[in-house]
Amino acid sequence: MRISLTGRNFLTLRDFTPDEIRYLIDFAAALKTKKREGGEKQLLKGKNIILIFEKSSTRTRCAFETAAYDEGAHVTFLSNSQMGKKESLEDTAKVLGRFYDGIEFRGYKQETVEALAEFSGVRVWNGLTDKYHPTQILADMLTIYEQFGSLAGRKLVFVGDARNNMGNSLMIGCAKLGMHFVALAPEELYPDKALTNEMTALAKETGGSVTITSSIEDAVKGADVIYTDVWASMGEEAELEERVKLLRPYQVNAEMIQKTENPNVIFLHCLPAVHDTLTDMGKLAYEKFGLSAMEVTDDVFRAPYSKVFDEAENRMHTIKAVMCATLAQTLQDSDGKPIVD
Ligand code: CP
Ligand code: NVA
Repeated sequence: MRISLTGRNFLTLRDFTPDEIRYLIDFAAALKTKKREGGEKQLLKGKNIILIFEKSSTRTRCAFETAAYDEGAHVTFLSNSQMGKKESLEDTAKVLGRFYDGIEFRGYKQETVEALAEFSGVRVWNGLTDKYHPTQILADMLTIYEQFGSLAGRKLVFVGDARNNMGNSLMIGCAKLGMHFVALAPEELYPDKALTNEMTALAKETGGSVTITSSIEDAVKGADVIYTDVWASMGEEAELEERVKLLRPYQVNAEMIQKTENPNVIFLHCLPAVHDTLTDMGKLAYEKFGLSAMEVTDDVFRAPYSKVFDEAENRMHTIKAVMCATLAQTLQDSDGKPIVD
């Protein structure tokens, strides 16, 4: 089946079919191989791209920049603009649409990235909002595919704050790709009911499943992937004390990994991770709560089964795939497999 994503925005995985998501993962894998071999043909030559960041970033910003440079595009980084202050979102979007071919946005509201798409008239990519983090999921799925050689039927357990961008987006990604998604969280941090119901119904069609539980034993047994995220996301730092109380029993540690009873289990984390006391957040966790790590212990983070740095690298290849697929005309064979020449 031929897939064309040219002219599409990338705001949430909800907008994409399972075939389109698999296409982006395959395309990223092909781009990764081509980069290693050398001689990448630049698909974004002459394109101008703007990266708007309301929130902090290391991976997402650098992935967009390096991917754009590899493909011959020019990049502007904007972190302090008039948008929403002296100028409406609509006006800013219209101005940026006159200058740029593509806009990446990271910030608080999903509505902002949607408005940029509505009013700019150019391609818009979601680099994280409070609700979704779709480019991260493509990197996660590519990493799982590299480790296991398949996605459908794999069991992924997301441990922690399951009502946030990562929990939501992983649930959507797993449901679309026929995977078994488990959110392991205290009831206070269970994901949105409407999203859970919608994804449970979708997973039935794709051969996957969605389970929400607070029981560690039930959740992790047979898991292929144990995944966690920070306990207090960007913008929610004031809730840290409450989160520590709720999530302390759900710290990913060697005992939890053992409970999977799967010798091939892998650990993933979108990063940044508070796995020791070397960061400001890590120091705070130690001084205020007596914790030497927060969401994941240092031994798990550094274990051979932890694939977090492969996952981080894959941010770049998958973001490159998203930009190229939506902005350029891409090639594929008669089976719809992407070709990178
Ligand atoms: N995983 C992720 O989005 O990392 P950054 O916040 O560093 O971009
Ligand atoms: N849930 C985290 C993800 C960081 C990549 C946050 O929003 O801060």
